[in-house]
Amino acid sequence: MATKAILVTGGAGYIGSHTVLQLLVSGFKTVVIDNLNNSSEIAMRRVKELAGEFGNNLSFHKVDLRDKPALMQIFDTTMFEAVIHFSGLKAVGESVQKPLLYYNNNLIGTITLLEVMAAHGCKNLVFSSSATVYGWPKEVPCTEESPLSALNPYGRTKLFIEEICRDIYRADPEWKMILLRYFNPIGAHPSGYIGEDPHGVPNNLMPFIQQVAVGKRPVLTVFGNDYNTVDGTGVRDYIHVVDLAEGHIAALHKLEDSKIGYEVFNLGTGKGTSVFQMVAAFEKASGKKIPLVIADRRPGDAEIVYASTEKAERELNWKAKYSIDDMCRDQWNWVSKNPYGYESPESNNNNADNGCYT
Ligand code: UD1
Repeated sequence: MATKAILVTGGAGYIGSHTVLQLLVSGFKTVVIDNLNNSSEIAMRRVKELAGEFGNNLSFHKVDLRDKPALMQIFDTTMFEAVIHFSGLKAVGESVQKPLLYYNNNLIGTITLLEVMAAHGCKNLVFSSSATVYGWPKEVPCTEESPLSALNPYGRTKLFIEEICRDIYRADPEWKMILLRYFNPIGAHPSGYIGEDPHGVPNNLMPFIQQVAVGKRPVLTVFGNDYNTVDGTGVRDYIHVVDLAEGHIAALHKLEDSKIGYEVFNLGTGKGTSVFQMVAAFEKASGKKIPLVIADRRPGDAEIVYASTEKAERELNWKAKYSIDDMCRDQWNWVSKNPYGYESPESNNNNADNGCYT
């Protein structure tokens, strides 16, 4: 495996950067393309540093996936064993306001990538899907066979891409496609050197808690306390981002299996945690009080979502290891070291560009 080259789209983002680090330390040559729309090149520099001697196997290109000539050029110069495709817009509310932006970016980007892969005979893909494709699940845990329904344009892009991949596989069974449905990734690399740094107002629970903890926002709004759950707040399956990154390495190994064709796997822990439980765990880890206000339910939010993890355990030989307390500890470690994310003056000074990777 040591010299295989992997292309990672969206590798400078939150899940992408953690996965790129795991790829490098697992011995893969890793080429990242990212348009830096919701990510930072500083993340790439830090990944390179964290990877130590393996950091030299990382190269980065600031490219938008829809730029076909640029993509062709990258494929012309490197033979890729597989592509891990993360890039895409992911804010649910924005997708409702700007559906065309989401369809253009996520669908055209993916189609362009698949065309360029096909033109170069690279037919191994790992795709970032999402538990969002289960919509409001009628039954939990969600298994890979559960009914699918997208509740918004963002979710529909994930669902459409799953279908597009299936059609491509049906037409040409030389393709090997693994679709990973992520549940709710949180936490950060235990070094506290890379983590989630969303641009603008965060949509998701943990980035919001994190910004309240460092005083960037005064209060966390809890969307509904009248759900039929343990304490009335919404329940989700939070998974440590490092566990999720490891799931991608397991998926890459699975692509080597001659029997693999088109396969879908949930990546979650199989355990549900409520909003109040998460706030309590974060307060314990950080020693900070998180002020709350209760508001109405957020439109489109499900009550309880958590994964069945059996298929991934059985077939990918992968299982999440980190607990909620671990996730909160590592989240707090990241945010307390980087209260302004990647853009703080301190972090820039501490992490001078080593060059030679662009
Ligand atoms: C959201 C998206 C989903 C996407 C996923 C991961 C919506 C409707 N769904 O899912 O499509 O795949 O993120 O990116 O946006 N909460 C609060 N206050 C907040 C934020 C969240 O109480 O400020 C609650 C929510 O109501 C929910 C839980 O926290 O019960 C988790 O929310 P979030 O982190 O946004 O994840 P999802 O709702 O699972």
